[in-house]
Amino acid sequence: MTPIDTHTKEEVLVKALPYIQTYEGKTFVIKYGGAAMTDDQLKSTFAKDVTVLRKIGINIIIVHGGGKEITDLASRLNLQTRFVDGQRYTDSLMLDAVLMVLAGKLNKELVNLINTNSGNAVGLTGMDNMLLRGRRAAPGGNDLGLVGEISTVNTAFLNSLLTMGLMPVIAPLAMGENGEMLNTNADIAASAIASALKAEKLVYLSDIEGVMVDGTLVSTLSPSRAEQLIHSSAITGGMIPKVRSAFHTVDAGVHKVHIIDGRIKHSLLLEIFTDEGIGTQLVPEDEAANSTS
Ligand SMILES: Nc1ncnc2c1ncn2[C@@H]1O[C@H](COP(=O)(O)OP(=O)(O)O)[C@@H](O)[C@H]1O
Ligand SMILES: [Mg+2]
Repeated sequence: MTPIDTHTKEEVLVKALPYIQTYEGKTFVIKYGGAAMTDDQLKSTFAKDVTVLRKIGINIIIVHGGGKEITDLASRLNLQTRFVDGQRYTDSLMLDAVLMVLAGKLNKELVNLINTNSGNAVGLTGMDNMLLRGRRAAPGGNDLGLVGEISTVNTAFLNSLLTMGLMPVIAPLAMGENGEMLNTNADIAASAIASALKAEKLVYLSDIEGVMVDGTLVSTLSPSRAEQLIHSSAITGGMIPKVRSAFHTVDAGVHKVHIIDGRIKHSLLLEIFTDEGIGTQLVPEDEAANSTS
């Protein structure tokens, strides 16, 4: 190692100090999905990153997705995946696949990987101690079957886990009004949890740089611009629930909501410990007006 390298590493640590002081004892909710969840190297660096954050005293809650693996298992089981306006219809057989993949394989693999680094992860679904209560949702008037929106979050339970120094890793399933299990969008579940806890930060890790328009990254996005971009079809598909849920979280008083690129190693640490900021920051209308981008 050259002296320059040593100097750089010292500087990195010292520059992180004000952020560590600001965030100690605060709660971050992280939506984990995309490439960071499928690539072995990225999975491993993610597990280390969240462990570092936990060890320096930040409360970490992870909500994970699983769309692609659910579709893969459904096709191996010869289940028909029906889409209504681009959204998956969940019948009871599909819910079985969702449970197996989301609450089973993916949740336990992630918990295991984090705990290999001594991250104190504990895997949960919304059904565990009624963590997430939901009701059937019909987005855009479309019946999507056993799909829910979140109505309540058991914040007392989450807070007690955090107080014990545990890192909840949550599969986004909710307990419905009639005791049925409901599949929920992971972005929306992460948003509901961050809002209910009045978290310090909500970070969506995705497999894209952030919100893009004509190939250019939008570094700061306001609610009105987002709705315009959805209306003009510049924002489509999975980015729609992401930005809409992000702004619900901003409305609930969470001022730091970011969509960042999970394909970049340690993007989570870069977002938290540097001034530059990466990806898209979603801010209230008045703040966007004062921003240059
Ligand atoms: N304007 C946009 N900017 C960025 N991504 C967009 C935009 N419009 C649609 N998308 C799509 O949304 C995807 C992210 O949502 P999704 O596929 O649900 O991934 P995840 O929820 O796992 O992060 C991007 O990979 C991209 O294909
Ligand atoms: Mg998605």
